[in-house]
Amino acid sequence: MAFVTTGLLFMVFPGTFLGVWNLLQISGKESVASISPAWLQAHGHAQVFGWVGSFILGIGFYSIPKLRGSKNIGMWAAWLCWVMWTVGAALRWSANVYSWEWRILLPVSALLELAAFLIFARSVSQHRPEDSGKEKMEPWVWVVVSASIGLLLVLLSNVVGCFYLAFRATTPTLPHAWDQRYLALMAWGFLVPFVWGFSAKWMSVFLGLKPLRQWVLFGAVLVNLLGVTLAVVGAILPASGLFLLGATLAIAALRIFEPSVKEAKTRGVHSSFPFFVRMAYGWLLVAGALGLAAVRWDNSGGIWGASRHALTVGFISVMILSVGQRILPAFAGMRLLWSTKLMFGGLALVTLGCTLRVSCEVIAYQGYANWAWSVLPVSALCELAGLTIYAINILGTFMLVPSHACKQPLVVGLPVEIGSN
Ligand code: HEM
Repeated sequence: MAFVTTGLLFMVFPGTFLGVWNLLQISGKESVASISPAWLQAHGHAQVFGWVGSFILGIGFYSIPKLRGSKNIGMWAAWLCWVMWTVGAALRWSANVYSWEWRILLPVSALLELAAFLIFARSVSQHRPEDSGKEKMEPWVWVVVSASIGLLLVLLSNVVGCFYLAFRATTPTLPHAWDQRYLALMAWGFLVPFVWGFSAKWMSVFLGLKPLRQWVLFGAVLVNLLGVTLAVVGAILPASGLFLLGATLAIAALRIFEPSVKEAKTRGVHSSFPFFVRMAYGWLLVAGALGLAAVRWDNSGGIWGASRHALTVGFISVMILSVGQRILPAFAGMRLLWSTKLMFGGLALVTLGCTLRVSCEVIAYQGYANWAWSVLPVSALCELAGLTIYAINILGTFMLVPSHACKQPLVVGLPVEIGSN
């Protein structure tokens, strides 16, 4: 609950508020070049590390020992990891936004984040299940392991980047070409395979889908990995083609768009849950297609920006809002979600905001039509409202709903009552 609560605070204040402020500035001046790149990078870091990273660490500490059938991890390791990760992400944001002592704070923040991840990886991998028969890894675990290696590489390149800035640069901002490669590694090497892995674990049950095509999923991961490697060495055109191909293969493997063979499990959440999960995968395809289009037509950063937000807001955030509200109440002492109506409201607003943002960012930044500049602030406010409603719903669940509201025992981290329809 500590990891999730700090993740939500990072998402709302340093992440989304700063993102909205940046977008209002860009729309007012009708140019992305008009605002500080340090502020853009502070926003991206708060969202990806402060929010998504905190969630992944917290959920990992809670569920990995249970899934592996081992005893709980040492609490001291989880708290130490939480302190280092939170302080690291907060220092990075402050150094970028206020430019105060950034030559010291940037490397310190990067080292704290790396150390926190290593503590996490060591403590969750150390605990061996008593029954060695459970040791055989299921396909989804391999995908999550590949995403964890992606996260490790992102953290290592962040350390290198921060030391480079501290010794060589004049501002606390990664150079544009470096930042683009780093973002490709972060988005496609870490965030995307994480969602594929957890989808492979949970979606066939939650949505009642046909069984996973595991070899197609492995193929998707390999194609995507090749794409990440090419993007990092600067071969953006083939990399973008591979990202789109990998996403298509993952969708075929998970069978997300095929008709369900069992009833979807929507008890405890809003009945629109399966729709939003499917739509998130639609956004993944949009992100891949826009990435490919950007290589050919982008001359303003607008198509790249639209592709990035189709991925981070449309795919990642919609998945976290959908699945988070499905599992987090159960993880936090077997609670029930505070409000299913708020769940729908938040998801609907984020979807509306993302649709306006992705379409109008291309139209406005590329100079196709001037009216689109005036839609962008509306899109930002819709996304802000949707994400804030989500945070209120989770915090309301933690604070206002009694624990053990679900009486059934946990099965791989899910109460049977919520797990069954
Ligand atoms: C209210 C919602 C959001 C708004 C208004 C917003 C706004 C922005 C803006 C204006 C930029 C600058 C580039 C561009 O013009 O496209 C940007 C970049 C970025 N955003 Fe967002 N954003 C939001 C949500 C998110 C979320 C949820 C994530 C991640 C989970 C995210 C991750 C990023 C990243 C990684 C960058 C690139 C930063 C860099 O250049 O290093 N954003 N965002």
